[in-house]
Amino acid sequence: MLIQLIYCSVASCMFSHEELSGLLRFARQNNAKEDITGILLYAEGSFFQVLEGEEEKIRSLFEKIEKDKRHHSMTIIIQEPIAERSFGDWTMGYADITPEDLGTIIGTNDFLVRGQSFAQFEKGRVKKLLAAFKYGRWRAKISDFDTPFDKPSRISQENPDYSPSVAKKLNRNDKYSFAFQPIVNAKTRQVFSYEALLRGRKNEPAQQILNSVDPSKIGYFDDQSRSLAINLAAYLGLSTHLNLNIMPSNAISSPTTIPSILRAAEQFKIFPEQIVLEILESEIIEDFEIFKSAICEYQSSGLLLAIDDFGAGYAGLNLLAEFQPHIIKLDLHLIRDVHSRGPRQAIIRGLLRACFDLGIDIIAEGVENESEYRWLRDEGIDLFQGYLFAKPDFERLSTTFYLPD
Ligand SMILES: Cc1cc2nc3c(=O)[nH]c(=O)nc-3n(C[C@H](O)[C@H](O)[C@H](O)COP(=O)(O)O)c2cc1C
Repeated sequence: MLIQLIYCSVASCMFSHEELSGLLRFARQNNAKEDITGILLYAEGSFFQVLEGEEEKIRSLFEKIEKDKRHHSMTIIIQEPIAERSFGDWTMGYADITPEDLGTIIGTNDFLVRGQSFAQFEKGRVKKLLAAFKYGRWRAKISDFDTPFDKPSRISQENPDYSPSVAKKLNRNDKYSFAFQPIVNAKTRQVFSYEALLRGRKNEPAQQILNSVDPSKIGYFDDQSRSLAINLAAYLGLSTHLNLNIMPSNAISSPTTIPSILRAAEQFKIFPEQIVLEILESEIIEDFEIFKSAICEYQSSGLLLAIDDFGAGYAGLNLLAEFQPHIIKLDLHLIRDVHSRGPRQAIIRGLLRACFDLGIDIIAEGVENESEYRWLRDEGIDLFQGYLFAKPDFERLSTTFYLPD
């Protein structure tokens, strides 16, 4: 299994450029033999390293690195299975970053083999963690700094085509269909994703459809309906992410969930990493032991994972200590009237800081008015969903939405 391990540490003494180069030369040679890739950064006495490769090889290398007297105070930031490497063929890219370089590190390329640069990373959380390192997170030496939440969005959008009679053209006999609600990136002013919401063929509410499903066939229905959502979205020209829900109780234990999504994605030419699976926080907590055993499968599938209604299940930061999703969707009860509620503000600020440090995106959902939006935006949240911006649109990937200036 392919894993990625990211840690930081403190150098035992200041490294000269020659010493760093020596270390790097050795690491590159050794890592090439073991098919290990990654990057090593050094700034003002702190190391930050990404290692990726087969699990056993990473673990045995890390054991050695851990014992190396040239550094101490190791902190593992992320350790998770991955579908593909972020650093491709780089046996160990490295940057010796001076304080002056910090402002420009994202985008420089003089330290990377093959002349590639950070600017080319769009996928995964590595770029965000590098940005966090740039702003002083994970560095022992620098503690006081401001955090501009300056994170790039993963996929930019082209205008999807709209066809008015989608279901007809797809020639399906299903009794249900989907509406799509945009999730917008306020920074780029583009659609980041569409959440697929179950509807009747004539836009009837989801509950009506669910009530008509035989309870013993709910798992099958769940898989089938998600495949239809992927099919519809692809047909409508999806070029952003697509958020899909998993029915409670199916999310964690059903062995067919991931394979059926991957099959549909392949069939309809959607990349797995375009798909964001939303799992309710309450579901995860209820079945945490089972969930823990399913995490690997989720992470190595390449699909992105979002915790839905985060903040409603009362696990909060404890959950993030155990497992780091790609995205959390803030529960709308935390969002409601946030501009005038001190405790909600304090909780959201804490979450933002934790998520920034862990490379987790935050979506504020259920935003209904401009005061809520402005407060959240001022705190650095980029991703928004709610009636203020756009309502769900039946069988359409709408590209028009409202965004206050
Ligand atoms: C910050 C830091 C990062 C390192 N990264 C690597 C690496 O990526 N690959 C590697 O082979 N050694 C790396 N090393 C060196 C190892 O700690 C260790 O010295 C090396 O694997 C030699 O071990 P051995 O002689 O017992 O085989 C690193 C050392 C430090 C201090």
